Amino acid sequence: MTAADLRNKYLEFFEKKGHKIIPSASLVPEHDPTVLFTTAGMHPLVPFLLGENHPEGKRLVNVQKCLRTDDIEDVGDNWHNTFFEMLGNWSLGDYWKEEAISWSFEFLTKELGLDQNRISVTVFGGDSEVPGVSADEESVAIWKKLGIPEERIYRLGSEDNWWGPVGDTGPCGPDTEMFYDTGASEHGKVCRPGENCGKYTEIWNDVFMEYNRTKDGKFEKLNQKNVDTGMGVERVLGVLQGRDNIYETELFSRALSLIKTLSPNYKETSARIVADHLRAATFLLADQVIPSNSERGYVLRRLIRRAIRHGRLLEINGNFISKIAAEFIETYKDQYKELTTFSEEIFAELNKEEGKFQKALTSGLREFEKLGTNISGQDVFRLYESYGFPPELTFELVAEKGIRVDHKQFEMELKRHQEVSRAGMEKKFSGGLADHSEITVRGHTATHLLHQALRDVLGDSVYQTGSNITPERIRFDFSYKEKPTVEQLKKVEEVVNEKIKLNLPVKKEMLSQEEADRKGAIGLFKQKYSDKVSIYEIGDYSVEYCGGPHVDHTSLVGKFRIIKEESVSAGQRRIKAVLE
Ligand code: GLY
Repeated sequence: MTAADLRNKYLEFFEKKGHKIIPSASLVPEHDPTVLFTTAGMHPLVPFLLGENHPEGKRLVNVQKCLRTDDIEDVGDNWHNTFFEMLGNWSLGDYWKEEAISWSFEFLTKELGLDQNRISVTVFGGDSEVPGVSADEESVAIWKKLGIPEERIYRLGSEDNWWGPVGDTGPCGPDTEMFYDTGASEHGKVCRPGENCGKYTEIWNDVFMEYNRTKDGKFEKLNQKNVDTGMGVERVLGVLQGRDNIYETELFSRALSLIKTLSPNYKETSARIVADHLRAATFLLADQVIPSNSERGYVLRRLIRRAIRHGRLLEINGNFISKIAAEFIETYKDQYKELTTFSEEIFAELNKEEGKFQKALTSGLREFEKLGTNISGQDVFRLYESYGFPPELTFELVAEKGIRVDHKQFEMELKRHQEVSRAGMEKKFSGGLADHSEITVRGHTATHLLHQALRDVLGDSVYQTGSNITPERIRFDFSYKEKPTVEQLKKVEEVVNEKIKLNLPVKKEMLSQEEADRKGAIGLFKQKYSDKVSIYEIGDYSVEYCGGPHVDHTSLVGKFRIIKEESVSAGQRRIKAVLE
């Protein structure tokens, strides 16, 4: 079975069970300043897990691009990734444990044909960390009914069987995880599912999201019981193809064979790191993240630079990273159109970054040599800040040469720097605008009118999946299955301009969630999911969740013109527009 077969089989299976297929959201979470990347399929759905009505209904399914960097040090082993694709199905206050678990089991054993004797499961066994939530014996009983014997059911604590929230607050709950016994274990070690000895691979996770973690750390019941599931494409594919690792699947074969050709000193672990990191970088660049020294850009830069360093260990000569990216674009182009749309930009950024890093290495090494045998934490930080010389490389060199270094002082410097950049980020992402100049604020109000106008002309299946507003242009992403016609786009433009001319008042209100829902507010943004949500109303035309800022009256927006409409990925469209 290929990755494409697996994705299709999964989507079709859940579509038959009444689920609507929704597109993958961007790796950059829309309007959520609390986290850097989309780390799970549920992330873009948080408002709906909290109770907002999803335009596609109560049963959803998709394949979501995800990025997690917390396991970055494990990348290179058999199963860990930074970027990965997650298959997910959701019940938003609809079906519950019985259906969720039975369908997972049916899909694994009937559709994928996995041997049920090799499936073990873990369930939430209760934990004082989550007071008031009892052990999930209901799930145990369902597993037993399906034929999983007691000895392959593990009751574990919240460390293993509690999922979420994504940030500090939000929907979460106990989960039940499915593991496949690969038969092998490293060096004959014995372990249970959830312990990393190579024997059990986690393939799927059904989360029963009926709690909301509040700011003060309490777990309160949500108004609705949700199911949120997550299954990693790479891992399941590895298992289905009879591999003991993800790198022998076709998702990596093109890139790894090129790395093999380019490397005169091939080492499996470094090659895997190069492949993993450049795959992640390619997808991040396609989602418009640019390498920089803070936040998202810093993560991207770190991935690229780590890949280059491992490329050096493989003794690859000259610039190589955009060549590897090209292989990934080829591998994924049918599923993720954005890769081909932005391929030129991806190559250009990678080449630029590779050149910069070579320079940084040369000048950083020269400075490093000058430092002598007692290196302070500030020195390490200065090498990083002034020359872009990676701290991990300094630490490697220091260890090699037996030089002493003040690690603690470096950690303190780094912490101070992170606090400064976090404060910077909050400013950067307030309201999802690139800046707060008058023209971007006008653009922001225009996106609300555009959102509603699209829904009027194309129907309620349209909802915003992203936006980016700069003084030069408005970029607006939305879900829609077909290509809108020229006439429809013209109509949308007319409606927006008509509402601008009416000089409607733009009003902010802070409401309870229920009040906002009653008003039919659209959009994804909730002010950090606090008690009150912030909405903006434009006359009686549009009501949208939003943190602002906006113009006071629509006539201040100016004339609105659509300059381009295109597809960004399956079921996802993008409009570029300008204000005149
Ligand atoms: N949201 C479920 C998971 O990531 O496993």
